[in-house]
Amino acid sequence: MSLSLQHSVSVALSTLFVAAGLSVTPVHAASDSLVLYNGQHKDATSALIQAFEKKTQIKVESRDGKSNELAHQIIAEGDKSRADILYTEESSPQVMLAQDGLLAEINAETLENIPSDYRDAENRWTGVLGRSRVVVYNPDMIDEADLPTSVMDLQGDEWEGRFAFVPTSGAFQKQLSAMIKLEGRDTAKSWLEGLKKHGKIYRKNTVVLDAVERGEIDFGLINNYYWDRQAKEKGKENMTSRLYFFGTNDLGDMLTVASMGILKSSDNQDAAQQFIAFAVSEEGQQILTDKSAQYPLNTQAETHPDLKPFAELTPPKGTLDLGEYGDGKAAVELLQEVGLL
Ligand SMILES: [Fe+2]
Repeated sequence: MSLSLQHSVSVALSTLFVAAGLSVTPVHAASDSLVLYNGQHKDATSALIQAFEKKTQIKVESRDGKSNELAHQIIAEGDKSRADILYTEESSPQVMLAQDGLLAEINAETLENIPSDYRDAENRWTGVLGRSRVVVYNPDMIDEADLPTSVMDLQGDEWEGRFAFVPTSGAFQKQLSAMIKLEGRDTAKSWLEGLKKHGKIYRKNTVVLDAVERGEIDFGLINNYYWDRQAKEKGKENMTSRLYFFGTNDLGDMLTVASMGILKSSDNQDAAQQFIAFAVSEEGQQILTDKSAQYPLNTQAETHPDLKPFAELTPPKGTLDLGEYGDGKAAVELLQEVGLL
């Protein structure tokens, strides 16, 4: 159905309802439901969608996948993409789409909820949740005092076979982008080569956490909320592993942001704006962080009490805006060059 025809039909229907004395809230037809390309954790996104649907009567269809792949899919689909919104684990895929001119501006009132450090300077995407890179370690295998003092140290021979990492993880790749920016490509390349030589490669953060919990490996590089989620499920007292922060503005403690953007090609701009407004509202942030222990970026929303307080995190400086490395392409190229992707 063409847009103008669709509009005429909905106007005609509204007129009919009004004539029949029924109250009319702007209800979107089934074909008009929002399509969310979702690269974030399914359970939290589903909870957000359910609450949004209940509140607005706007249907949301979620297509789940890996953030980077979804962004590339959108680029390949071009104007014909069914995606109205992209929700990603990190900001890199949003930066890539913004640079390609594919993202619409997000409403100013929505953006006011999120500090300017955690969103695009040109309003084309916004951070929704924060997450910290951490080391998860097994105290039966290694004392906290013996852990490396910087993530950069991991290329040393003394760490042979003692740690795990996930080169396909968006957050790992973001960390690498930051390293290329701050330390240069050559240093980042030697670091990766050291990791490849000495570390164990896993496909998922949850698998790393499980391996550390079971004592198969001393420690691993993951995101904070994987530990918090498992602790919530089985009780903090039943966790063997512990989280370790380098604590010195080290790249190992990098903060990354799960982000949302609206596609310019979307025919549902109003509904898409409403969805993002809801995601960054106090209510939306509470729903998301109840399901996944990430940090709300809306400062009015409460952080989960078990998390290390946001104000006590010491992420590396100069890494929220990675400039030319923000789209993550240089990191992916380097991973391919080293044979990790
Ligand atoms: Fe994740």
